[in-house]
Amino acid sequence: MKVTIQKLCQWKQEKKPIVCLTAWDYAIASLLDDAQIDLILVGDSLAMVALGHNNTLPITLEEMIHHTKAVCRGVKRSFVVCDLPFLTYQTSVTHAIESAGKIIKETNADAVKLEGGYPAMVETVTRLTEIGIPVMGHVGLTPQSVRVLGYKQQGKSAIAQETIFNQAVALEKAGAFAIVLEHMTEELAQKITHSLSIPTIGIGAGKSCDGQVLVTADLLGLSPKVPPFAKIYTDLKTIISDSVSQYAKEVRSHQFP
Ligand code: KIV
Ligand code: NA
Repeated sequence: MKVTIQKLCQWKQEKKPIVCLTAWDYAIASLLDDAQIDLILVGDSLAMVALGHNNTLPITLEEMIHHTKAVCRGVKRSFVVCDLPFLTYQTSVTHAIESAGKIIKETNADAVKLEGGYPAMVETVTRLTEIGIPVMGHVGLTPQSVRVLGYKQQGKSAIAQETIFNQAVALEKAGAFAIVLEHMTEELAQKITHSLSIPTIGIGAGKSCDGQVLVTADLLGLSPKVPPFAKIYTDLKTIISDSVSQYAKEVRSHQFP
């Protein structure tokens, strides 16, 4: 049965952890869906792990739509969320509606995600929700702000904690159905999780969140660079590299076919 927003909120109530991962193509998405991953995020991290960019800034709306269509073809059960890329929603509410609307119209994604909980973004979340586009929030370390924040842990000072906490509360009030809490202190993530009625999905934010997300390429050992909070479950890089080297060797030595 398809995962819905209602179920995600119910699982928070029942304290049943929500399992999320990222996907960027049909093959990965099909595997995640078969493995009962509850929420699949077509994260703009695909700019790095699938397209070779240095950060998430260069990816376009068209590229995100292209990858989201492929992901959706592989998904039957999971709830699919597509990231809004940098500069496709920050300039105005109208621009955000056009960009998010294009994703929802042209793909089978169930929702969009955007970064930030400052007042202008809260207004954007209100408007998107009003017109029927479900929005997932994202606070703490927001990678589209890498030029300002770097990739450092957020929420270290009391004032930073208060700012992030207030952003999360404002996003819930604006209608966000869930919020990603990225690379912040466990204490802050716990406080936010206990104060909100919508689910929090943590990445580098400790055990208390209602769900967890990782970049799938990190978990599989496929990423060039892995953040300190990720857990590497397997070494696909070595497996793939050994396999293709073996193939090359066999072709060159006339062993295969
Ligand atoms: O782009 C992404 O993969 C993300 C997750 C890490 C939350 O935004
Ligand atoms: Na992202």
